[in-house]
Amino acid sequence: MHMPSRDCCFFWLNWFFCFFFTIGLAEDPYVSFDWSISYITASPLGVPQKVIGIEGQFPGPILNVTTNWNVLINVRNNLDEPLLLTWNGIQQRKNAWQDGVSGTNCPIPAGWNWTYQFQVKDQIGSFFYFPSLNFQRAAGGYGGIVVNNREVIAVPFPAPDGDITLFISDWYTKSHKELREQVESGAGLGAPDGILINGHGPYRYDNAAVPDGIAYLTITVDPGKTYRIRVHNVGITTSLNFRIQNHNLLLVETEGSYTVQQNYTNMDIHVGQSYSFLVTMDQPSGSDFYIVASPRFVNSTASIKAPGVAILHYSNSMGPASGPLPDPPNEYDTHFSMNQARSIRWNVSAGAARPNPQGSFKYGQITVTDVYVILNRPVELIDGKWRNTLNGISYFAPSTPLRLAQQFNVRGVYKLDFPNELMNRPAKVDTSVINGTFKGFMEIIFQNNDTFVQSYHLDGYAFFVVGMDYGVWSESSRATYNKWDGVARCTTQVFPGAWTAILVSLDNAGMWNLRAQNLDSWYLGQEVYLSVVNPENDKDEVPLPDNTIYCGALSPLQKDQAQRINFFSRSSSRSKSMATILAAIFAVLFLTCL
Ligand SMILES: *[C@@H]1O[C@H](CO)[C@@H](O)[C@H](O)[C@H]1NC(C)=O
Ligand SMILES: *[C@@H]1O[C@H](CO)[C@@H](O)[C@H](O)[C@H]1NC(C)=O
Ligand SMILES: *[C@@H]1O[C@H](CO)[C@@H](O)[C@H](O)[C@H]1NC(C)=O
Ligand SMILES: *[C@@H]1O[C@H](CO)[C@@H](O)[C@H](O)[C@H]1NC(C)=O
Ligand SMILES: *[C@@H]1O[C@H](CO)[C@@H](O)[C@H](O)[C@H]1NC(C)=O
Ligand SMILES: *[C@@H]1O[C@H](CO)[C@@H](O)[C@H](O)[C@H]1NC(C)=O
Ligand SMILES: *[C@@H]1O[C@H](CO)[C@@H](O)[C@H](O)[C@H]1NC(C)=O
Repeated sequence: MHMPSRDCCFFWLNWFFCFFFTIGLAEDPYVSFDWSISYITASPLGVPQKVIGIEGQFPGPILNVTTNWNVLINVRNNLDEPLLLTWNGIQQRKNAWQDGVSGTNCPIPAGWNWTYQFQVKDQIGSFFYFPSLNFQRAAGGYGGIVVNNREVIAVPFPAPDGDITLFISDWYTKSHKELREQVESGAGLGAPDGILINGHGPYRYDNAAVPDGIAYLTITVDPGKTYRIRVHNVGITTSLNFRIQNHNLLLVETEGSYTVQQNYTNMDIHVGQSYSFLVTMDQPSGSDFYIVASPRFVNSTASIKAPGVAILHYSNSMGPASGPLPDPPNEYDTHFSMNQARSIRWNVSAGAARPNPQGSFKYGQITVTDVYVILNRPVELIDGKWRNTLNGISYFAPSTPLRLAQQFNVRGVYKLDFPNELMNRPAKVDTSVINGTFKGFMEIIFQNNDTFVQSYHLDGYAFFVVGMDYGVWSESSRATYNKWDGVARCTTQVFPGAWTAILVSLDNAGMWNLRAQNLDSWYLGQEVYLSVVNPENDKDEVPLPDNTIYCGALSPLQKDQAQRINFFSRSSSRSKSMATILAAIFAVLFLTCL
């Protein structure tokens, strides 16, 4: 029998090694982060405040990853209350265990740590993370998520010369604990104390409007270059108009979808929304320019002293920004903002930043299987407490997270009976869940009966925004739907006295949060969960993680934090068995060679 030569043998060994370890694993690398979440002192509006920092930073670090990467984030809760971080817009495909909202995870107790582990899969774009419990977002704790394309995937615009993330937000000098008490008491939030850009107060563009001594943000750019500017409204309740003096904003992406590329002089960005613009530094560089985020739709009596103002500094600039701030859109033109929203369309010919579930790029031709008309009302008293409702139900968060209750068959935690429309019955507080049909195609109409803009976010999915209009939605409204290039995103605005319609393909099994992004409404119960169960056993569904924290009815399963299994033994059983097989083949080849 002819024995393989040593060289040949090593060739195969080498080949095997290279194939699996450079191609196999290099394709889906692991990156890990260790984040301590703690209070830090910051003075965004000149008043020292306790804000939530991540690794001592406010805003937190940018999670800069590439699609298909496996991300491990060991979160240490050094706050004085329970914590969960949620990854706004990251779809957590078949992996609701990592979603970080009260219906999917037990909170990380103060003093504990917990490692999120998820794969950013088939999505490319701009998202952000934030603390999801107890009104904590009002104290910060947020940061950006950039999901880059793999190099083999084309992007429908030339590579920009730089990548800049801006967080714009309303801001209150009261702590998140004071604010939540105020909201519970029915007093509402009132007008914010200011608007921040990347955690900084306004540049002193006007001595009367802005006090001295406030630190502001400066972005330095080179003349002639083009930058991708990702803008997130991470605020708690205020819609903001974003603009840069004398510069066009070329819209290219929103929440993981490439848009038809159009220039805007300003953009209304509602709570929880994310956009990418390409901005070319094409102005004569005599001076700096203003970057502005100003509140929209707030009554002038309650209006805020100063908008958010940062500085765009050309590296060869010879002087400070000057002149009046660039004009906002007309406050009383209620149609401006809706028309602008309708003008944002999907570039259907661009390579997909996100996959098209079941050919849903032709979403207009798919048969709708379920219709929900979801109405929100202004804050109301239910059993003596101020609550917000959806279809007359204010969400009650049970002590056992819904997804865990589902996994362990804990009965009585929730009911799959969320109504398709407002019922003729008194409002109530309940844990009523939407029973989604796996692989169904759902139409949801949000009808906003409140007096301010709401934005709604769905975890686990991107949905197509197909229509919005004033008045009450009716079946004939469907004739106005955009059935061709409505943009797929995860957060949509609903104007007061108006409706917004979305379509979503329920191809991601899990228990998914549908919430108002406006923190006050959300805190008072304006949310619901959507249960999507695959009736077949799907081997790709990520199993319950080994490090799951248990609480509520499942607390007896919880071990002491010190006894927990370590970091490296937590990969899924599938990848563990794959690793064992690879190791065995490698050993056999190696021994044969000797
Ligand atoms: C993000 O990572 C990519 C490469 O993975 C790098 O080119 C880019 O500069 C990084 N961006 C930021 C903002 O750090
Ligand atoms: C807590 O952090 C330690 C490392 O400091 C890690 O070994 C452990 O797995 C973490 N716990 C959880 C539940 O992720
Ligand atoms: C859409 O994407 C295609 C493909 O990348 C690109 O060539 C085209 O310019 C884009 N169209 C618009 C209107 O943005
Ligand atoms: C957008 O505006 C810039 C000037 O700022 C211009 O060069 C570019 O052609 C415009 N693009 C589109 C798609 O209108
Ligand atoms: C603005 O004022 C009008 C009329 O007083 C009132 O109905 C509305 O609720 C107010 N809006 C906000 C956002 O406070
Ligand atoms: C939920 O929907 C599934 C079909 O998707 C159905 O089989 C089941 O009976 C429903 N459950 C309830 C409680 O209505
Ligand atoms: C809310 O609903 C009531 C009753 O149908 C209606 O009179 C009112 O105009 C609605 N308000 C808004 C802002 O939709």
